[in-house]
Amino acid sequence: MPLSVSEALKQRISTRAFLDKPVAESDVREILETAKYSPSGGNLQPWRVHVVTGAARARLIEAVKKSLAENPFAGGELRIYPENLWEPYRTRRYKLGEDMYALLGIPREERTARLAHLQRNFEFFGAPVGLFFTLDRRFDKGQWAHLGMLMLAIALVAEERGLSTCMQEAWSAQAKAVSAFLGVPDEEQLYCGMSLGYADRSANVNSLRSDRAPLEDFVTFHRD
Ligand SMILES: Cc1cc2nc3c(=O)[nH]c(=O)nc-3n(C[C@H](O)[C@H](O)[C@H](O)COP(=O)(O)O)c2cc1C
Repeated sequence: MPLSVSEALKQRISTRAFLDKPVAESDVREILETAKYSPSGGNLQPWRVHVVTGAARARLIEAVKKSLAENPFAGGELRIYPENLWEPYRTRRYKLGEDMYALLGIPREERTARLAHLQRNFEFFGAPVGLFFTLDRRFDKGQWAHLGMLMLAIALVAEERGLSTCMQEAWSAQAKAVSAFLGVPDEEQLYCGMSLGYADRSANVNSLRSDRAPLEDFVTFHRD
């Protein structure tokens, strides 16, 4: 019995350690074939997706490693979070980080070890498949939201097939190096990466279950 949509939503987590086990390209294709039924305003289907595996994946990781070494704080054009994040968002972000590093056993003072874990983003946390999502720069906020729908659909369909994912805005900090490698034209902006593979269930970090606020905190029912 395949997972229900509700089950897939509740089961999906950001997986940050993967097994060194290949994923067949036919599986990736089938996931994308299903996920492409995601809706988009005006049916623009504004997204573009790059799938990176095998030798190309290894070469990309090397290229980005080099770029990171040259300028670790290059930053990208995407502002991942607004400056001076306010409550309750600031605390949510802080808690997620602290919960994650607690599971990894890396205390606050061990900045180098924390950074090393962050750098694992740029190795797809060991996943054999990397996806990258780009958008034409002329698109506006609406189309960015539509791309998000495709990304979630990919994560849920992957879940249904026993595969795991981690969405990774971290890659946008290395957008230049990644775009050059993938041959993304200047007219396109790299938004996000995604790791795809089989979760390493023995890795502590994969036991992280992030909180969600109760409905009262974000839903308003208008009745009368
Ligand atoms: C668009 C997007 C980008 C993300 N980028 C990263 C990232 O670069 N690195 C990372 O470790 N997690 C990343 N995350 C994972 C979030 O931290 C995670 O979704 C959130 O804490 C909720 O946890 P969950 O996905 O396990 O339910 C990203 C999530 C989304 C939706």
